[in-house]
Amino acid sequence: MRIAVVGTGYVGLVTGTCFAEVGIDVTCVDIDEKKIENLRKGVLPIYEPGLEEMVERNAQKGRLSFSTDLSEVVRTCGCEAVFIAVGTPPGEDGSADLKYVLAVAREIGRNLEGYTVVVTKSTVPVGTARKVRQAIQEELEARGADIDFDVASNPEFLKEGAAIEDFLKPDRIVVGVASERAEKVMQKLYKPFLMNGHPLIFMDIPSAEMTKYAANAMLATKISFMNDVANLCEIMGADVNMVRRGIGSDARIGNKFIYPGIGYGGSCFPKDVKALIRTASENGYDMQVLRAVESVNERQKSVLFDKIHRHFQGELAGKTFAVWGLSFKPKTDDMREAPSLVIIQRLLEQGAKVKAYDPVAMAEARHTLGESIEYGKDEYEALIDADALLLVTEWPEFRSPNFAVVGKLMKEKTVFDGRNIYDANDMREKGFAYYGIGIAQHAAQLNPTTSL
Ligand code: UDX
Repeated sequence: MRIAVVGTGYVGLVTGTCFAEVGIDVTCVDIDEKKIENLRKGVLPIYEPGLEEMVERNAQKGRLSFSTDLSEVVRTCGCEAVFIAVGTPPGEDGSADLKYVLAVAREIGRNLEGYTVVVTKSTVPVGTARKVRQAIQEELEARGADIDFDVASNPEFLKEGAAIEDFLKPDRIVVGVASERAEKVMQKLYKPFLMNGHPLIFMDIPSAEMTKYAANAMLATKISFMNDVANLCEIMGADVNMVRRGIGSDARIGNKFIYPGIGYGGSCFPKDVKALIRTASENGYDMQVLRAVESVNERQKSVLFDKIHRHFQGELAGKTFAVWGLSFKPKTDDMREAPSLVIIQRLLEQGAKVKAYDPVAMAEARHTLGESIEYGKDEYEALIDADALLLVTEWPEFRSPNFAVVGKLMKEKTVFDGRNIYDANDMREKGFAYYGIGIAQHAAQLNPTTSL
């Protein structure tokens, strides 16, 4: 089987590489010549555990190739499916900008030679597959070509940092189709990924498009809900870690995705929540819950700063803050919509100094933050003479540092833990002033009797 994947961003590159891994011939296409040149040399545009090795292995076996020439690929590859995985950046009004998706669709239409399933893989609003079909049809008509094709919608649910695992062993695969022929092609393509018994769910195209948004919006809702509960726990003298365990053991609620923190970030949740609110309002419907989810998240990004401001009684000018973690979550260098950016910005506005360290996002941070902050060589160096440590991203290497060393390096033994990775009692016993999220200062007196 042969396919092409257009767009070598996060989703496109992982999709193409994982299809190659199961033996399908894949050509990944991107207009960015530098990116393609680098990929041919095995240099990836993103950091994702395990991906580099997988790209190299499949390229060597000749199953994975790279091209900048979409027209030629569509004309000559004899592909059974072409996946569109190009960016859909949010426009100013929050709606997903489809110009790249539709430009690719038109180019496919101008070059199609035989029956192909054109699959939208980028997260696109309900109704996009219809626009893609129309764009291809128009180009075919302009050429006077009578070629059969289908469109399909195949949303991607992978998480950054666990992308390969998620793609190879998905919880489910959702495919929206409008013909049996397209269903057969998609069935054949995905057969190798169904080994763990999870379903391949076929449905109509608009439902598949909606499924992606509904999934991300539901997950974002869980997070904002827990952040709201966490903030109330602090006011009421409770410990959200206990509450989380208490509610999470109810199977209807579940224990995943209910960790409070400093707000969700990344390329998906903020964008998709906004886009769904927008789609609804364009169609005369008010997504009240999601509007609240979004505003709680905005507020939550400032929660750590507010605690710092209170602790230092507003005297932040000239103080130095060590920041551990800059990416929006561990195992990625992605800083899009990262809470770290809001926290750092607010500290700098107050005249404070920031010295940060992140295990992989340092280059990305220099690109985004430039010289406005200092960068530590490692997590310990970032602590020297710091008035406080801010744990912003829960990288595994930050989980059990040598606190004796941490305390010695710092000017003040104060820790603001934005992800609740340290134990409040333990930290206080070690002589630190400790602030978590949703843990009242006088709560957390009991040692947990079961593991968190
Ligand atoms: C998400 C979806 O999980 C994935 O299915 C979809 O395809 C793309 O969007 P991703 O953005 O890579 O994936 O990261 P994820 O691990 O889901 O985390 C998103 C954000 O939520 C992070 O900022 C994370 O810190 C935050 N989060 C997650 C919490 O604050 N609490 C939680 O309990 C879980």
